[in-house]
Amino acid sequence: MTILHTARLRLEPLDDVHVDGLHAMNSDPEVMRWLGGPVAGLDDTRAMIARVRTRWAEWGYGWWALVDAADGTLAGAAGIQHLGKDPANPHEIGWRLQRAHWGMGLAGEAMREIVRHGFETLQAPQLCAIRDPGNAASLRLMERLGMRHVGMQHWDGALVPVHRLAREDWRP
Ligand SMILES: CC(C)(COP(=O)(O)OP(=O)(O)OC[C@H]1O[C@@H](n2cnc3c(N)ncnc32)[C@H](O)[C@@H]1OP(=O)(O)O)[C@@H](O)C(=O)NCCC(=O)NCCS
Repeated sequence: MTILHTARLRLEPLDDVHVDGLHAMNSDPEVMRWLGGPVAGLDDTRAMIARVRTRWAEWGYGWWALVDAADGTLAGAAGIQHLGKDPANPHEIGWRLQRAHWGMGLAGEAMREIVRHGFETLQAPQLCAIRDPGNAASLRLMERLGMRHVGMQHWDGALVPVHRLAREDWRP
């Protein structure tokens, strides 16, 4: 399991030690506005961590906790998985931050390092991201990462914009 570092963050593979911070974020309706609504109980967050740990064990990648390197608090979570959770599909990147950490450039900082890991270490041929059509903050982040809108597709039960960055177009 891979720990990554950026100037302000330590990216730790999601584990049981992150449950409280993760649950605080997952139960915030503002954070979860475009992600299907808040997660109800602590058991749902525990189950999410268990699923993520299985993917780390099977695939060697998954979701990280974005830990503030200065004070150890959980600033957010981000990861690499696959569209439709099926490894036959292209790699997919995703992110969410605690509300108190929005507007500081932390998502971009974490995702630039995760994109680097995806291309350099995992040798992913492409990285995709999907979003609710109304999620303007994620659109801005996708554009800052150099991802291009490639059309609308059905994923996770909805027709959603798909954004893509091919390894040959990536500028570290
Ligand atoms: C999507 C999400 C992570 C974006 O968070 P964010 O704080 O806007 O993104 P960043 O951390 O990259 O910060 C960029 C913003 O911080 C500002 N900023 C402040 N200091 C900065 C710095 N040192 N470097 C870069 N940007 C900085 C930028 O101006 C930028 O604001 P702008 O987009 O209005 O121009 C956040 O809105 C979120 O968690 N949303 C809920 C979950 C969600 O929807 N997840 C994605 C599903 S697809």
